[in-house]
Amino acid sequence: MASRAFRWRRPYTVILSAVGLLMLCDLFGVFRHMFELDYDTHFTYPLDSEVNFYVNLMLSGQQSPVTPLESHHFRYLIDPRERCSGQRPLRLLIAIKSAPDHVERRRVIRQTWAELRTDVRHVFLLGTRAGDYELQRTVRREVEEYNDIVQAYFQDSYYNNTLKTMSGFRWAIERCADAEHTLFVDDDMYVSVPNVLRLAAQRAEYPAPEGGTAAAAAVPQPDSPLLVGYVFPASSPHRHRFSKWFVPLQEYPFSRWPPYCTAGAYVVSRSALRRLLYTSYYTKMFRFDDIYLGLVAQKAGVKPLHTDYIHFWEQTYSPDEFRHVVAAHGFHDPSRLLTVWSEQHKLGNA
Ligand SMILES: *[C@@H]1O[C@H](CO)[C@@H](O)[C@H](O)[C@H]1NC(C)=O
Repeated sequence: MASRAFRWRRPYTVILSAVGLLMLCDLFGVFRHMFELDYDTHFTYPLDSEVNFYVNLMLSGQQSPVTPLESHHFRYLIDPRERCSGQRPLRLLIAIKSAPDHVERRRVIRQTWAELRTDVRHVFLLGTRAGDYELQRTVRREVEEYNDIVQAYFQDSYYNNTLKTMSGFRWAIERCADAEHTLFVDDDMYVSVPNVLRLAAQRAEYPAPEGGTAAAAAVPQPDSPLLVGYVFPASSPHRHRFSKWFVPLQEYPFSRWPPYCTAGAYVVSRSALRRLLYTSYYTKMFRFDDIYLGLVAQKAGVKPLHTDYIHFWEQTYSPDEFRHVVAAHGFHDPSRLLTVWSEQHKLGNA
């Protein structure tokens, strides 16, 4: 009797298990991986056209004959126009991705790695929080006191990070065009400005021994293109549905990403900044800003340079190991930043 009942139910069991298995495969992205296109043989990304030709025209001061795909025209609610004026040479602009309510993080950053030298300027990049007038009043008060906030008109949210980054690129070109390098960095990072400047000068040689021949040899050609950060050379898109970074095939069909710098911190030279901004006009938007910049860099022919001295992961702190660190993740707690940075500053490393 029992065995007959079992036989009866068996087809359902099989069907149910099969459906369950298919759902699991879907959840874990097995099919999406199967239908990916091979990056090495198939990669293209809109706009699929003579982008470098248009960009070179724009770089030489001419009009591009083709209407941009993305204009990155932002309306700036707060625009400190004079922020970079008067300072020559301006070695570094620091563009810090922040958010309207990160008041405390900004306060400690001003006390620590920003405002350290006269030939370095910083600005905080913000979007807006629609309807939160009290928060906006707080931001305005900060502006009156420090005049270091750039606020563009878009909803400040995680998936709008690309807009925040591009608002920074555009602002840097329009208001701070003389800065030799720009550091793009998040407001939860530790930064050593002296090490940023050494990395910008020594590039692939960093950290060359101070005063050594390598340091002298690594003095860059004036304004040669540089994009340096912690590089993922060939990582794959997340295809499982429960990932924060889930990407469906319709959005991006290829098996891996072009090389890209993780968003936490990267340094761009003046000429690379302009080339990347102009190329971004002809690169379809992507909601992850680090991937987007990788796509733009790929089109622009700017090869991201990797450094081990920008930490995109959180690591346990030890005073000695931070000597050459340029930037490090995991400082969302402002008091930790204050402690670590102050110690490194005393040691002469920051
Ligand atoms: C990004 O900002 C735009 C402009 O404010 C807004 O319309 C859009 O909803 C925002 N997107 C997200 C994901 O917040």
